[in-house]
Amino acid sequence: MGRDSAAQIDDRVLTPEPQRFEGARDAFGALARVLGSASVLVRAYRGGVPPARREAVMVAVSRSNACRGCSNVHHRWALRAGVSAEDLRSIGLGDLAALDVATRSAVVYATDRAARRFRSAADPQLTANARSRLGEAQLEQVDAVAGLIAFANLTMNTVTGALRTSRPQPRPTSAHPSFAKVWRILSSKAMSHEARRELLAGLEGTVVELGAGDGLNFRHYPSTVNRVVAIEPEPQLRSLAQQAARGLPVPTTVVDGAAEAIPGADDSYDAAVICLVLCTVPDQAQALAEIKRVLRPGGELRFYEHVAAGDRRRPIQRWLDTSGIWPRLGAGCHLSRDTLRAIRGAGFIIEEYCELESGLGRLSLPHIAGVARLPLSTP
Ligand SMILES: C[S@@+](CC[C@H](N)C(=O)[O-])C[C@H]1O[C@@H](n2cnc3c(N)ncnc32)[C@H](O)[C@@H]1O
Repeated sequence: MGRDSAAQIDDRVLTPEPQRFEGARDAFGALARVLGSASVLVRAYRGGVPPARREAVMVAVSRSNACRGCSNVHHRWALRAGVSAEDLRSIGLGDLAALDVATRSAVVYATDRAARRFRSAADPQLTANARSRLGEAQLEQVDAVAGLIAFANLTMNTVTGALRTSRPQPRPTSAHPSFAKVWRILSSKAMSHEARRELLAGLEGTVVELGAGDGLNFRHYPSTVNRVVAIEPEPQLRSLAQQAARGLPVPTTVVDGAAEAIPGADDSYDAAVICLVLCTVPDQAQALAEIKRVLRPGGELRFYEHVAAGDRRRPIQRWLDTSGIWPRLGAGCHLSRDTLRAIRGAGFIIEEYCELESGLGRLSLPHIAGVARLPLSTP
């Protein structure tokens, strides 16, 4: 398919990296461009560009600039303006075949201009195509709309990026001596031995446990398990886990490592266990992808995790997480993660699970516990 009828956004613009201003000069230049196009924008908003097309352009440009906030807002506005969910999905995938030809040419033109940061003209073929579909006046308005949303995207990304880097970052090291001391006391209170036994009941074969802590689970593995490999990155907890692993009926080895890079070959385990760990791992998606890699097809994941509340605790949880207060207290722990969704999103089938409230004293947190399984043939 030639570029004239391009049904795909150019790969160059599908960047997952949030685009930001390169400095004050860059930002003021973009602002001046937006102000200079004010009268064209007024015409665009007064019907010069049909609202559905305008919003489709806004979503596509926001996505190409990796501005999550603008993408979400304009996604909603696009639905309201009459863009179908299917069209939005196709914009999200960068495959525009489902769009009408005029909107498609507008989107491809606008994202090309955004990729060039409006510093140079769009690809001549894309421009000619858009001009023939939209006419000169509408093309000028699409260009102004793209400039406006790109300005909003880069402003958002620049501000949020600056806030993020000014916030204290979690410690890069895996050593959390204070947390290790506290967890040693709390581990049996945060999850009872009975709940641990229940989590592990019926497991078979070779099992990998991620983030084993001080090894409280070890004694509860049933005799149907041949071998446990436990991974624990925190040195003090690892040493306690190594002590707990001694002399157990099920051979248990404790090693250093992280859930995001599990030592072991593909398909090498029958089951994986995560227990109050996906709240803490720095990269949940990567950890789940790794679990998926080392599990054999049809292998199971046993999980017990505290998760985001569905009630009025949620905004407080979110604030405690984003302010960095809770991650600091809990060595990287987060209160507001949607872990069930992440497990599903990683390609696991949730076979059974339950929701429960559990916690320490008056600090009750919503938890999920259950079994997820990989399909027998993984894509
Ligand atoms: C709340 S404790 C839970 C410990 C244990 N699973 C239990 O149930 O008692 C969280 C554990 O996750 C470990 N952890 C933190 N980041 C990790 C990572 N990226 N990969 C694996 N484990 C991690 C911590 O060192 C800690 O031992």
